[in-house]
Amino acid sequence: MRPEDAAAALQWLAEMGADEIIGEEPVDRFAAAIAPPAPAMKPAAPVQVARPPIAASDDAASLAAACTSLDDIVATLQRFDACPLKKTATNLCFSDGNPAAHVMIVGEAPGRDEDIQGKPFVGRSGQLLDRMLAAIGLSRHAEEPEKSVFITNTIFWRPPGNRDPTESETMMCLPFVLRAIELQRPRVVLGVGKISSQRLLSTADGILKLRGKWREISAGSLTVPFLPTLHPAYLLRRPIEKRLAWRDLLSLRQALDAH
Ligand code: URA
Repeated sequence: MRPEDAAAALQWLAEMGADEIIGEEPVDRFAAAIAPPAPAMKPAAPVQVARPPIAASDDAASLAAACTSLDDIVATLQRFDACPLKKTATNLCFSDGNPAAHVMIVGEAPGRDEDIQGKPFVGRSGQLLDRMLAAIGLSRHAEEPEKSVFITNTIFWRPPGNRDPTESETMMCLPFVLRAIELQRPRVVLGVGKISSQRLLSTADGILKLRGKWREISAGSLTVPFLPTLHPAYLLRRPIEKRLAWRDLLSLRQALDAH
């Protein structure tokens, strides 16, 4: 392959989201595609395959239930190996912000910057999220609980190439998200984007249908108001929709002021 063709292929891969190497050795997929077919074999007896990932969420549920603080959740996640994303991620990315905050934000999944820093929403989407929050007087850096936010995600390890997390991956992390809500005891939860809103509301409805409508979610012994809104990454792609996000933010401000 000519160097300029290799450079073009690499650039294409990066544009498709494959921005890191996850195997030590390159695999020649073209060679694999033209390899002679394997000789016909006698069909094997059916094998009972153990049901994998979702079953692991039973484990997650009991591990999450045993956590007695947010730090405990972090320590448990450090030794929780059932989520396959952990193998390809650089860092656990659990939370940022003020654990005493009145508002908890649940996003989607860490991206490249979050994976490197081990904190949610520190890349471009996070910068927009910070500006959105600042517009209604909230900040992840504020010390006063009424002015601050606590930020976490639906999933705590970066999916390779920023693909959407699968249902089994999110279901596996859900007990930890719910336990974090129960322990952090926010006055309201803001669900940022489709995936967190669908998981926390147990619905398949799209975010354009869900956004802006207050619901309640249960996290263990706690019932808490929940507002779904648009994800900042979506707003970066479709700035015209910022007017909808602004309505949601005003609704959040109003709910906080009414308390
Ligand atoms: N998008 C998210 O939903 N979460 C992050 O942490 C970063 C980007």
